[in-house]
Amino acid sequence: MVGAGISLMEVLDVLDIESEVSLPKRYSELSEEEMTARVREIKAKFGERLFIPGHHYQKDEVIQFADARGDSLKLAQICTTKPEAEFIPFCGVHFMAETADMLTGPDQKVILPDMRAGCSMADMADIDQTEEGWEAMQEVWGDTILPLTYVNSTAAIKGFVGKHGGATVTSSNAKKMLEWAFTQKERILFLPDQHLGRNTAYDLGIPLEQMAVWAPLKGEFEYEGDFEDVKVILWKGHCSVHEKFNIKHIENLRDKEPEMKVLVHPECTFDVVQASDLNGSTSFIINTIENAEPGSKWAIGTEMNLVNRLAMENPDKEIVSLNPFMCPCLTMNRIDLPHLLWSLEKLEQGEVVNQITVPQEVAENAVLALNRMLERS
Ligand code: 13P
Ligand code: SF4
Repeated sequence: MVGAGISLMEVLDVLDIESEVSLPKRYSELSEEEMTARVREIKAKFGERLFIPGHHYQKDEVIQFADARGDSLKLAQICTTKPEAEFIPFCGVHFMAETADMLTGPDQKVILPDMRAGCSMADMADIDQTEEGWEAMQEVWGDTILPLTYVNSTAAIKGFVGKHGGATVTSSNAKKMLEWAFTQKERILFLPDQHLGRNTAYDLGIPLEQMAVWAPLKGEFEYEGDFEDVKVILWKGHCSVHEKFNIKHIENLRDKEPEMKVLVHPECTFDVVQASDLNGSTSFIINTIENAEPGSKWAIGTEMNLVNRLAMENPDKEIVSLNPFMCPCLTMNRIDLPHLLWSLEKLEQGEVVNQITVPQEVAENAVLALNRMLERS
């Protein structure tokens, strides 16, 4: 973070600062056909030495080249099974590439085709804020707290969590991981997504009154009850994409299309998740739609690239976005065909650009947190 609530990526964006990682001009002059053909050619040339993981939120022009498509859990798992891949151009966002780097061998190189592909949620918890918040929490509750972090967090936060005996979670195993965490300690600190934390804890039967919020920018708790009753401390972070779905969208839909089912990601707010018919990770959303009855109608509350793809791949079902004015995740969209091709052409020329490397001292503890999750998934 470079200032209150502003990330370095956002500042670079606003100032449109050219850096050594920016894309040479000639890529804007190539046609899509030319770029597609070149990516195919380079992939064929490298064979198994190249492995491209792609998150479900990636654009079609990019996801078509993914050797494995998945949610964040699946992509983390699959990266551990590809020791033959020398180069891993990661089609996703920065925290996913960091995770891939930490779970692969020292000679494997993870590349993020555009360094601006960050995640605003991951930027909402930096390590200094976390250390400060932890100190305040220890003063109130002593040694009764286990930290868990959503994988949508920096390697430094994963390292912090690993050092304190905690684990990472993804949206597909958050419930199981929270159950495990309560076998370890009396209270849980859940970083950085308050919504996933709240939705999951509530699902486990923890009432809202037993959840406090830690507001890192103010350095204070947002909680009105008896602190002794608190079971879960939610870090005040959120996904700016999933917060764009609100209860009004669901009410309008229930009015106009009462037979339409509402299916949302648990990064949505508590109200939205409670008012939906079903909620789950991106894989859960995909499986639900694939197994749904032909003719069924669905309003989906997640990122637009995925919703559009589901609509295209399931023409026998009616699929719309829960928010008709929804946009895609801007940072996920930074990975486009020109950037992918550029990073691959550089590899072809023997140069690795935009390599993601997590320092060993951070990775050591972060891997502990990741492995505690992977062993239980
Ligand atoms: P999952 O892939 O775990 O569903 O997470 C969604 C997401 O927001 C990734 O950034
Ligand atoms: Fe981050 Fe939300 Fe985009 Fe996922 S969808 S990368 S959580 S901003």
